[in-house]
Amino acid sequence: MLEKHFSGEKATLTLDGTTYELPVIIGTEGEKAVDIRALRSTTGYITMDSGFMNTGSCSSAITFLDGEQGILSYRGYGIEDLAESCSFVEVAYLLVHGNLPTPKELGSFSRMLGEFAMLHENMIHFFDGFPPNAAPMAILSSMVNSLSSFYPEMTNNPLENIDLMAARLISKVRTIAAFSYKKSMGHPLVYPRHDLSYCANFLNMMFDSPVRPYEVNDVVVAVLNKLLILHGDHEQNCSTSTVRLVGSARVNLYACISAGISALWGPLHGGANQAVVEMLERIHREGGDYRRCIARAKDPKDPFRLVGFGHRVYKTHDPRSRIIKKACDDVLAALRIDDPLLHIAKEIEEAVLKDEYFVERHLYPNVDFYSGIIYRAIGIPTDMFTVMFALGRLPGWIAHWKEMWDDPNWRIGRPRQIYVGPRRRPFVPLKERTLENV
Ligand code: ACO
Repeated sequence: MLEKHFSGEKATLTLDGTTYELPVIIGTEGEKAVDIRALRSTTGYITMDSGFMNTGSCSSAITFLDGEQGILSYRGYGIEDLAESCSFVEVAYLLVHGNLPTPKELGSFSRMLGEFAMLHENMIHFFDGFPPNAAPMAILSSMVNSLSSFYPEMTNNPLENIDLMAARLISKVRTIAAFSYKKSMGHPLVYPRHDLSYCANFLNMMFDSPVRPYEVNDVVVAVLNKLLILHGDHEQNCSTSTVRLVGSARVNLYACISAGISALWGPLHGGANQAVVEMLERIHREGGDYRRCIARAKDPKDPFRLVGFGHRVYKTHDPRSRIIKKACDDVLAALRIDDPLLHIAKEIEEAVLKDEYFVERHLYPNVDFYSGIIYRAIGIPTDMFTVMFALGRLPGWIAHWKEMWDDPNWRIGRPRQIYVGPRRRPFVPLKERTLENV
């Protein structure tokens, strides 16, 4: 895949008086890279790039994003078109298989999702082992890892079974998420139903109860589809890179996805949607004055950050946040909800977009700023927000795992480092050690 993108151009690098030529790679949308794979073997030097701000770890045909212009596409389709016109299941198919499904392909993929929705009854006992207040992300990560013991179909070529594994995961993760909520509430489990669409089925498992049957609401189903699509993939972010890195050691898909879920949990990554709503709730409880939060975020001595703002790649509006903001207005109006947190969020956004600190640093609302307000409106509890992100991101993780497994340039992921510890020193036997000689 990479080889046909070598442009023939060379970058030059002079080290210790010798000039080296390094090949230049140009991607489909014009992004440029200098190929340094032979750098250490030819020069003895490595590159230093904490946080991988300038490091390409792979080539990929899944997602393109341009952070300067605010462009995002999956497999060549603009995120705006996909969010407007597709169901989440269609987009999941697109990410995993590379093309939008025909009606027949969509039908058979949807049937597979229906088939696989149940959990093995032995897995259901696992839920009883967690304490009642267990974090849903901890449950999700553990349960997904345990799937590998129930479905050990990793052969020498796991790509033979990838369609099966992908459908199984996409379907079962939804059931695991809903069951973990029911368990945390101490309510009876609601099993998946064949006659409901992917999102309607999830909502029914979450909210149906023996005393109050759930009525599927099309507005809620539509906005959930949109949110999951918007979270479907985002190229080499922290959790996706985790899935690839763990997978590079040839680890099974379920264990890699479990690792990705753990990475997503962090408040600087997927955990930000929960942190945003908690921040807005705190501001609301304290009388609605958000200015103190903005002042704290700008104070270099205070580690506090205005969650929901800033992005490693986007230096303009995140295209997803524009769609989510509009969806937020639409769904709250349709459900006739007047959420004070939405008012506070809009005031914060307005103030931040005019504030020199945020303007200079190109800090705009990200995907997490408004998504939590929608989740609140449709009844998803705050500690499940990051689980919802994981449901959406799952097809992207699977697509990257599949692509990595099939990549002829695949190597086990193993960064280098610059050692800055003590130089080699004499060993002192335990009996002779004092505070002065260790
Ligand atoms: N509030 C206040 N200041 C911020 C914020 C913020 N949310 N984000 C970045 N900055 C400041 C930093 O303090 C730094 O300022 P300095 O140059 O004076 O030191 C500058 O902007 C650059 O910030 P970095 O940390 O270098 O940016 P980085 O690309 O490493 O981090 C990140 C990106 C983690 C998303 C960051 O913007 C952040 O912490 N945001 C808040 C958490 C959040 O919303 N995360 C969700 C991201 S979207 C996602 O993962 C799905």
